[in-house]
Amino acid sequence: MLTGRLPHLAPVVVVVAGIDNPNPSTYIFFAQVNEKPPIVGIGIKRKRYTYDLIKKHHEFSVNFLGSNILSEVDKAGMMSGHMGNKQEKLAFHYDQGHTIKTPVIRESILAYEVKYMDEAAFPDHQWIYGEVTNIRASYDLKDNPQGLKPVLASFYSLTYHLPGALAGKWGFSR
Ligand SMILES: Cc1cc2nc3c(=O)[nH]c(=O)nc-3n(C[C@H](O)[C@H](O)[C@H](O)COP(=O)(O)O)c2cc1C
Repeated sequence: MLTGRLPHLAPVVVVVAGIDNPNPSTYIFFAQVNEKPPIVGIGIKRKRYTYDLIKKHHEFSVNFLGSNILSEVDKAGMMSGHMGNKQEKLAFHYDQGHTIKTPVIRESILAYEVKYMDEAAFPDHQWIYGEVTNIRASYDLKDNPQGLKPVLASFYSLTYHLPGALAGKWGFSR
């Protein structure tokens, strides 16, 4: 059996959980797992404060930030809400969610409001699944796919990467 961190690139998201004191944390284990309805999953260690907050409130927001604010994304992954209020140490602002009470990050280029559905236990991560009940984007995704420039990261090299140029539309080879 292989062990360890796989080297592929994946988008980095900031998950906000908590209603009165929203707690933003950074995650690389993120995926869409169903189309209709749109369901996403995050892989989260059970000791994270975010995990406690999601279990308590049964909702969270998933925020994609651009490289202009990468240092805050990194910071959100370096400190735990278990050690005190993270919010005041980070330069994020918050907007009210439309379908959940948990806020979304104003600076995000794309944000999903998510309602908890289920979870699955793996040896070192808990996967939390939830339905996306609202999408907030700072631009028209179809007209401006170039605008979608989230930060990518590798769990293997612990590095951040920026996507390059638009390389074509799905099916362009037909
Ligand atoms: C780029 C990056 C990606 C991360 N991805 C994950 C992840 O997928 N799952 C996880 O449990 N922790 C991940 N972490 C670690 C958490 O963000 C970190 O432990 C954070 O302090 C948790 O905060 P909390 O205890 O307030 O929830 C990541 C950290 C960074 C910097």
